[in-house]
Amino acid sequence: MAETATDPATPSLFSPYKMGKFDLSHRVVLAPMTRCRALNNVPNSALVEYYTQRATNGGFLITEGTMISPTAAGFPHVPGIFNKEQVEAWKHVVGAVHAKGTVIFCQLWHVGRASHQALQPGGITPISSTNKPISRRWRVLMPDGTHEIYPKPRKLETYEIPELVEHYRQAAINAIEAGFDGVEIHGAHGYLIDQFMKDGINERTDEYGGSLENRCKFIMQVVQAVVSAVGADRVGVRISPAIDHLDAMDSDPLSLGLAVIERLNKLQTDCGARLTYLHVTQPRYTAYGQTESGSHGNAEEEARFMRTWRRAYQGTFICSGGFTRQLGIEAVAEGDADLVAYGRLFISNPDLVLRLKLNAPLNKYIRATFYTHDPVVGYTDYPFLNLPKSRL
Ligand SMILES: Cc1cc2nc3c(=O)[nH]c(=O)nc-3n(C[C@H](O)[C@H](O)[C@H](O)COP(=O)(O)O)c2cc1C
Repeated sequence: MAETATDPATPSLFSPYKMGKFDLSHRVVLAPMTRCRALNNVPNSALVEYYTQRATNGGFLITEGTMISPTAAGFPHVPGIFNKEQVEAWKHVVGAVHAKGTVIFCQLWHVGRASHQALQPGGITPISSTNKPISRRWRVLMPDGTHEIYPKPRKLETYEIPELVEHYRQAAINAIEAGFDGVEIHGAHGYLIDQFMKDGINERTDEYGGSLENRCKFIMQVVQAVVSAVGADRVGVRISPAIDHLDAMDSDPLSLGLAVIERLNKLQTDCGARLTYLHVTQPRYTAYGQTESGSHGNAEEEARFMRTWRRAYQGTFICSGGFTRQLGIEAVAEGDADLVAYGRLFISNPDLVLRLKLNAPLNKYIRATFYTHDPVVGYTDYPFLNLPKSRL
């Protein structure tokens, strides 16, 4: 059954939204997802096809995590945005997506300790805020398709950190050069930025460790640098204070989230412009079977955290993590989010927006091909709805 709006004043998952300077025609967003099809870290025609399939007029896509530097990868064959070849290659993806009237942001990613020597240039040790490895509960995907435990990382010296900030800044400039409408700073899911924020990982005694102020320092330096380089209105930030993916635990996720939000609000006031959005992943993401980790709080607590952050943040709020059609409709109608990012359902349904609108059946995703490298199988071969022209 197609969605029918009862009250035109109530926002709907399928109603237009003005996200900063971007006019969106609906609120279904492609969540950033690593798909390991960018052979040798360079986007290719398979990525052009994949993103174009998911592009809709007035829609919003966020790319998979994209390496800001040669040390940033934690999976084989993820794309980069740190050299000329990659920038040129991304232009084909962006051009094709723009031709369909779609807004596209590039997700800027450094995995920190969530890597392995086999994925590092010259086989060097992965870097982090800490020298503690990720526990044996988790495994890294190796270039040969096997899984290994994560190695002990090398804790960054204080004087090295500004160089990392500079890599984010330069990657953002490169993304704009490639034609992207903006960038999303990946501060979520246990990767480098989260490794600085969470007190379950960061045990530093310098100005980047200890207090909330110090643990938020790295993310804020990155956001500030990227905003200065490309403008606040082309920058989104993703965080996941309550998610323990890759051991990213915090003793007080609610306060951590609020601390980041407070600082983002202040940055917006100071620079007199809003960021494009804040994107928060909620723990249902893991509870729905992405990982084997243990308990993730309860649904009520999650909803309370998300509502508190949503109310505190002064700007566009994107939520993601286990959203079904119904949950997405409710989140927007009840004002819990402006936009909803869909991950796994968008992998298996290239025409997800149409299917959600029509309440049509959804293809099931095949987990086994999430991170394989075939340019077609499990990537661009999920079927579209077969509808008579009159219903399109
Ligand atoms: C295969 C796969 C790859 C992912 N890669 C990324 C990524 O590169 N960056 C990121 O921020 N989140 C990543 N995620 C998390 C998704 O963006 C999303 O938040 C998560 O899948 C929960 O949404 P869902 O329940 O709609 O799938 C990934 C998820 C999946 C399933």
